[in-house]
Order: sequence, then structure tokens, then C-alpha cells
Amino acid sequence: MSDPRATTAPRRHLLSVADLTRDDVERVLDTASSLAASIDREVKKLPTLRGRTVVNLFYESSTRTLASFELAAKRLSADTMSIRSAGSSVDKGESLKDTALTLAAYDPDVIVMRHPSIGAPQLVARLTDAHVVNAGDGKHQHPTQALLDLYAIREALGRLDGVRVAIVGDVLHSRVARSLVQALTLVGGETVLVGPPTLVPRGIGGLGCEISHRISAIGDADVVYVLRMQRERIGEAFVPSLREYTALYGITPARVRAGQVVMHPGPMNRGIEIDPRVADSEQALVTDQVRAGLVVRMAVLYDVLTVAPVEARERAEVA
Ligand code: NCD
Repeated sequence: MSDPRATTAPRRHLLSVADLTRDDVERVLDTASSLAASIDREVKKLPTLRGRTVVNLFYESSTRTLASFELAAKRLSADTMSIRSAGSSVDKGESLKDTALTLAAYDPDVIVMRHPSIGAPQLVARLTDAHVVNAGDGKHQHPTQALLDLYAIREALGRLDGVRVAIVGDVLHSRVARSLVQALTLVGGETVLVGPPTLVPRGIGGLGCEISHRISAIGDADVVYVLRMQRERIGEAFVPSLREYTALYGITPARVRAGQVVMHPGPMNRGIEIDPRVADSEQALVTDQVRAGLVVRMAVLYDVLTVAPVEARERAEVA
């Protein structure tokens, strides 16, 4: 079987979960576990990426993803800077290409990038010599979110193989859902997508998951993964009203059974897709996900910079 990475240059990127093998996922999660153990000390910094430069280039708002990439680079002793489109020359009309070429002139080792357009990170990967990590492109992919979610599930349940995850809500606009379904499939998990037909279109089943328009479908899941209603992308046209959405699909204490864990990538709309009593309950892993984000992003930076180039080069040679 041909390996998609065999045709690419040795320089490694993380653009899509589709580029990963099960081994890649397990290696990153295991690296994250050992990093978690090593930063659990008083001195939280490791010298691993000393002398490397990580640039975060964010064209969409972000709290968790940007903060954790920045901190991850610092914890590994890399130099890091973050550029948000607001307040940068993007405001003055600079194109993505010119911004990328400008940043490339500083020779960054890694560019971590979030953009509203699908494929923007691929473009930057072609234009620069940096390793590019996709931190979310439109509704397409958010691979590091999927990896941190797998990490948080593995920590909470002790396994990934056979884990059943119900992803509930605005699947249509969700890069998180797309990446997570693919990642779970890689590691032997099962997914059911749950929501109204306007937000969970049938065609999405092609990703290899089940679909249900009934909230009762979350009943046999180990994990209830709640998606944010992306009001900035959907307006209200996709649901008759948010109140009706909440009545039919909101995750309330009555809908969650004992033994299930509840996840949400953040930011949460409390009282819309998730009841505050669930968000603040013992069953919620939301803070664990945020913590996982730091160690998993450290592992990703380490991985693209140090582990895989040799392996990728070998694969390119045999192709
Ligand atoms: C997600 C995103 O930006 O795709 N948030 C995140 O990265 N923590 C999900 C969302 O915005 O709903």
C-alpha cells in the first residue's frame, strides 16, 4: 500500500489526521505521556528544542490552542512568537502568501497555523521551509485537537481500542469532529454522530461512522463528546431556534448516564449545547482536555522536528 508521506519531502508536517498511521498516533501519545511525567516536577522546562524557533500564525480567534502551543514551545526551550491576524499587517491587506514569505525570512523551524480557509496550512508548507502544523483550517481539520482528545480518553478510560464515542451537535461545521472520527478509526474506536439532519448530513457517514438524529443514541457510548454550536459560521438558519436545539440535543444531567465521561473542545456555550451542571460535574473531562493539549502539543512539536524526518526520508527512498 502506498504511504501518502512517501511522496512528500523529508520535511515533516502535521496537516491532517489522514496523513497519520496508527503507529504515528501511538508514538505521539506515548511521547506526551513521558513529557507529562517529566514536567510534573518543580522545574517545568526541558532543553529539548533549545535553539529552535516556533512561530504561531493565527487568522482566527483562539484561546486554548494558541496558549498551549506557545507554552508547549517554551516548555521545550524553543524561541516562540505568536502573530494574530488582528493587529498584524493582515489588517492592512497583506496576503497569506506575503505574510508567509515574510515570516519565512526569519527561518522558523515550525509554523503553527490557524486559518478560516481549507488548505491554507498546505499553502504555507509549500511556500516555506518550515515544518507546518495545522491548528485548524476552516471546517476541515484540527489534528492536534484529535490527538489531545485521544490522550484524554486514554488517560480517563485506560484504553482506546473499542471505545465508543458519541459526537453530538454541529458536526457540519466542525473540523474537530472530522479529525476525531478519523483518529478514532485509526486506533480502533467507534463513533456515532448525533444531531439534527441539517447539522449532521448523511454524506458525513463516509468518514466511517454511524449517524443518528436521536439523542437517545448517546446511551451506549463510553464518551459523550459535545460540540460547540458554531454561531459565527452557521447563523441560526440551520436550526429553528437555539432553544429548540437545546431542548432536543442539549446535554443535561438526565441525558448522561453513570459511567460515561463528557468532553467538549471549548469554548463552551453553557446552557446551549451543554448544561452547566454537566460541564462542572465529575464526569466532565474538559479541564483534562486542556491539560492534555499542552503535553500533546509538546509531543507534536518534538515529533515533527526530531522523530520523523529520518523515517519519512527512508519511506521516500523506497518509493
Ligand atoms: C475548536 C476549534 O477552534 O476548532 N476549539 C478549539 O480548538 N479548542 C472548536 C470550536 O471552536 O468549537
